[in-house]
Amino acid sequence: MTESKFELGDRATGKKTDLPVRAGTIGPSVIDVASIYKDYDLFTYDPGFGVTAACDSKITYIDGDAGVLLYRGYPVEQLAEKSTFTEVCYLVLYGELPSRRQLDEFTNSIQHHTMINETLLRFFNGFHHNAHPMAMVSAVVASLSAFYHDSMDIHNPRHREIFAHRIVAKMPTIAAAAHKHSLGQPFIYPRNDLDYCSNLLHMFFAVPCEPYQVDPVAAQALDLLFILHADHEQNASTSTVRLAGSTGANPYAAISAGVSALWGPAHGGANEAVLAMLEQIGTVDNIPKYLAMAKDRSSHFRLMGFGHRVYKNFDPRAKIIREMCYKVLARLGRSDSPLFELALRLEEIALKDEYFVSRKLYPNVDFYSGIIYSAIGIPRSMFTVMFAIARTVGWVAHWQEMISDPHMRIGRPRQLYTGPTRRDYAEIGKRS
Ligand code: ACO
Repeated sequence: MTESKFELGDRATGKKTDLPVRAGTIGPSVIDVASIYKDYDLFTYDPGFGVTAACDSKITYIDGDAGVLLYRGYPVEQLAEKSTFTEVCYLVLYGELPSRRQLDEFTNSIQHHTMINETLLRFFNGFHHNAHPMAMVSAVVASLSAFYHDSMDIHNPRHREIFAHRIVAKMPTIAAAAHKHSLGQPFIYPRNDLDYCSNLLHMFFAVPCEPYQVDPVAAQALDLLFILHADHEQNASTSTVRLAGSTGANPYAAISAGVSALWGPAHGGANEAVLAMLEQIGTVDNIPKYLAMAKDRSSHFRLMGFGHRVYKNFDPRAKIIREMCYKVLARLGRSDSPLFELALRLEEIALKDEYFVSRKLYPNVDFYSGIIYSAIGIPRSMFTVMFAIARTVGWVAHWQEMISDPHMRIGRPRQLYTGPTRRDYAEIGKRS
């Protein structure tokens, strides 16, 4: 909807153009710059996409200054308190909270798509036991496209829906297979009588030689963490899924691209990096030394789990997870966790430091999540995989939204070319 106009003028020629300004339901409006190449022979320049909206979306809203996060309009705090991950998956995918019947049908569908083709399990044997699980998960998710290629018509809404249910259901199974492969333990098949996170814990921690009882505290903690990670609008991995998917690529391949983008330490890989950093810092006495390193431009060291492109205030997810750390650690009998103590002190000291204050660098979602994953027995190398499982529903919702948009175009950024101008090929003997 065009609400107003923004006047763009070229002083040199005196030429003026009215650019449409489009308003969303909340948040900043956008200037539609699509015509300026035609009118002015100019591109816009915004490396890192700091101020560029690449699409319309109805899924998630963030107000980074106020620390607000809404899924389909619902505050994440309310969903964290009252909902479940499966219900949030339904909300993110379908846009509304489900009725009881809709939730039962959806839960049943997810529970009955948990198995993966037996031949996919053999893929894991191609990996060394110490391969990073994100490498295995990314490869195996991409390989799903080989199993569901001819049967997947991206323009068929029912096919898209089946894909959505399949990938949300199979991510824990693939993640657990990667974990079991790292340990050299036999793969544990999913149990469809368990809820999403209990089933995940079962596949991770059960062994065939003895009964395994899922710890409800761990399952509940995981469910809450998954709600908080379910979507985050146009972040790097989601934008990657959109870009890959915009070519018409098989959606499993697009999701695999998202897994790969998430892996980096500037994005989802930060949860693993935070624990490594806390272990490296070791004691409270060392905090000043590491803060000095984080502030030193000549050092590559950054305070992992701190800072965010959009949040210039507390990440609301970090606040919830910090509170959850107290409860989960107490209920698991680990209230004296030295890593949690160290993280709290690090946060306290950093938030009094002028460098972090002036740059509005606050703890993000990854700062405390690893402490909970560790407490429930998830190894550090699996932290980003946990994030990927939870974020899959967001990736799928964005892919769906994009593909079902009749105005969808392939994602194709422009550039400012700074390389050599035209020159002629020189024979090899005539090159200086
Ligand atoms: N430690 C030290 N300095 C930092 C940090 C940090 N964690 N984060 C940002 N800064 C500094 C930058 O050096 C820069 O300083 P300058 O103005 O003196 O040059 C300033 O703060 C602005 O930072 P940018 O890098 O421009 O911010 P950007 O929006 O590009 O990056 C990012 C955001 C990648 C999250 C960054 O804050 C970071 O690397 N944080 C640590 C990694 C992390 O926790 N990532 C997880 C993010 S949440 C998620 O993806 C799930």
